[in-house]
Amino acid sequence: MAKRETDIARAEKFCSSLGLRMPILLAPMAGACPPQLSAAVANAGGLGACGALLMQPDAIQEWAASFRARSNGGFQMNLWIPDPPAERDVAHERAVCRFLSDWGPEVEPEAIEVAAPDFSEQCEAMLEAGPTVISSIMGVYSSEFVHRMKEKGIRWFATVTTVDEAKAAEEAGADALVAQGMEAGGHRGAFQAESAETAMIGLFSLLPAVVDAVEVPVIATGGIADARGTAAALLLGASAVQIGTGFLRTPEAALPSVWSEGIGRANPEDTRLTRAFSGRAGRSLVNDYLRAAHRPDTPEPAPYPVQRSLTQAMRSEATKNNELSRMQAWAGQSAHLAQTRPAEELADALWKQAEELLS
Ligand SMILES: Cc1cc2nc3c(=O)[nH]c(=O)nc-3n(C[C@H](O)[C@H](O)[C@H](O)COP(=O)(O)O)c2cc1C
Repeated sequence: MAKRETDIARAEKFCSSLGLRMPILLAPMAGACPPQLSAAVANAGGLGACGALLMQPDAIQEWAASFRARSNGGFQMNLWIPDPPAERDVAHERAVCRFLSDWGPEVEPEAIEVAAPDFSEQCEAMLEAGPTVISSIMGVYSSEFVHRMKEKGIRWFATVTTVDEAKAAEEAGADALVAQGMEAGGHRGAFQAESAETAMIGLFSLLPAVVDAVEVPVIATGGIADARGTAAALLLGASAVQIGTGFLRTPEAALPSVWSEGIGRANPEDTRLTRAFSGRAGRSLVNDYLRAAHRPDTPEPAPYPVQRSLTQAMRSEATKNNELSRMQAWAGQSAHLAQTRPAEELADALWKQAEELLS
């Protein structure tokens, strides 16, 4: 009993340090975090999120303004730490394009736009937007940027997928760590692209190992979508949970309907880790495109972000036409737990039930 009270007390301490009323964080999801979803989670007392990977600086400011028009709550803004530039291999990319031509418009390696928004300009825009938290994935921010964010009173949450990454992020000054289990939907946050597929650690192993290895609070993410998972994460030492797929079926997420329905139907084995959409390993619903992309005779995907650019036309068409068979439909292993009720109501009910389980 005393131990259980400690789990709630740990979560409460974390919440009060951030001005939250519940230890529920919306996961940052590039392209799937509209301000209305974040505001709903924040209005319930949790933390909103913006996955800013693909956003230009002015879009980052617009997102923050749109959130603040809907909520007085807090939010995190998130960026990927860039990998070294990918090496191009046009002959191989041509082979990938031949395969892709069965799935979408013809693409030429020379014609694709690989450039992404400028990372340092995005960082400046995040500082100016002044979120409660800036988070990272795929690595750590420079010490200079960490210093500047802390000067402004912004916390840094670092996503980690191994104990080694957890220690490195704490050493680099992270205020809290987001321990991402391999159940998670979307891209895996491994610091090295190669270890995303080799160091596949489930949250039940990763979470207590990270909690034991560091002093800073640990947030659990990956496969948590209901009160049972939330309570279990707190019992394993988490100070809060971060939920992605579990919020994707809410009306505020406004997902293409086939993706939302696919999430609702998916058993854990109906998702898989794949590089076939972006070149970086991420977890998606299994669809016809993925089955073909993982056949032994299909060329390996190009590295990130080249593969992302090569598949852009196919992915855009799939979204426009609401076709699940070739859609980049990220989802975690607990997809089937995702509910379609409004996000504020969902967060509220989830935390109430988790508190009951823990009391
Ligand atoms: C559609 C989608 C997009 C994502 N984009 C990002 C991102 O831009 N940055 C990031 O740190 N994590 C991203 N993630 C991972 C989530 O932040 C989180 O780790 C994951 O959703 C947790 O697992 P769950 O989906 O089972 O809740 C994304 C996840 C999804 C489902």
